[in-house]
Amino acid sequence: MTHLADAAGAGMIGAKLGEGREAEVYAWGDRAVVKLYRPGYLGHLAESTALANLDGHGVAPRLIEVVNWDGRPGLVLERLAGSDMLALLQRRPWRVLALARALAAAHLAVHGVRAPADLPDLRQVLAARVEDADLPPQLRDFAMRILDGLPSGDRLCHGDYHPGNVLVAADRISVIDWANATRGVPEADHARTLLLLRWADPLPGTPLISRGLMAAGRAVFARGYARTYGGGSGRPLQLVDSWLVVHTAARVSEGIEVEQPLLIGLLEGARRNATR
Ligand SMILES: Nc1ncnc2c1ncn2[C@@H]1O[C@H](COP(=O)(O)OP(=O)(O)O)[C@@H](O)[C@H]1O
Ligand SMILES: [Mg+2]
Repeated sequence: MTHLADAAGAGMIGAKLGEGREAEVYAWGDRAVVKLYRPGYLGHLAESTALANLDGHGVAPRLIEVVNWDGRPGLVLERLAGSDMLALLQRRPWRVLALARALAAAHLAVHGVRAPADLPDLRQVLAARVEDADLPPQLRDFAMRILDGLPSGDRLCHGDYHPGNVLVAADRISVIDWANATRGVPEADHARTLLLLRWADPLPGTPLISRGLMAAGRAVFARGYARTYGGGSGRPLQLVDSWLVVHTAARVSEGIEVEQPLLIGLLEGARRNATR
């Protein structure tokens, strides 16, 4: 792997394939893509660490090299076929259950992998995000107290595992977007996915018709994912509801305006239940 060597050959970079808040993804030659982080974002550190560790497991694209493109860090990744599971759910809503099970199976495979020691501890990452969240003090304290009682772990946690970060091809499912990878217990990573599947606002700009389909399908999808994950883990899941509370508080720090009333309401409900 070249270590932030300047990428050679302007001809390598091709069409833009996708973009998010932190990065843009472009074709890179015929068989690869390059994920270029926006200036100031450091997600490439966790992403390259996680991907290097996942090499050979068959659940993520292979990391080919780390480059510097025009002053921006870029990860050159094996180019995967297929489309992301969110798009697939919209095109083929009748496959909702099969896709939910596939999402859970791939998540279990991820949690079978031991995390490298240099990834951050998920509990510390969550503590920082809860501290940072714009929350009434009593709700922040409530979430922090719960987090204090939760365990650390040594499993690879993705940190943002949802259908938009899973690519589905005929013969293979691959997990992408490892910028938030951490070290923790599986339940913690599982709870973040439950929160997103149940409550997260669909990406801004989603057409109304897909929003309708999503509302109808998401409960079925979330239940299918939860059942398969729970059934396949081979042991009783521990403290998922507690992790859900902490993730709900941490989610507030992402500042997604339309979600805030719902998140606060969920936290108030959990706090009332706990003090009853
Ligand atoms: N290895 C890959 N092969 C093919 N397409 C990819 C690959 N990695 C990312 N993409 C495309 O780029 C999009 C964004 O990638 P992602 O890693 O999720 O970045 P972001 O942080 O922008 O969400 C994906 O939805 C997918 O369309
Ligand atoms: Mg993504």
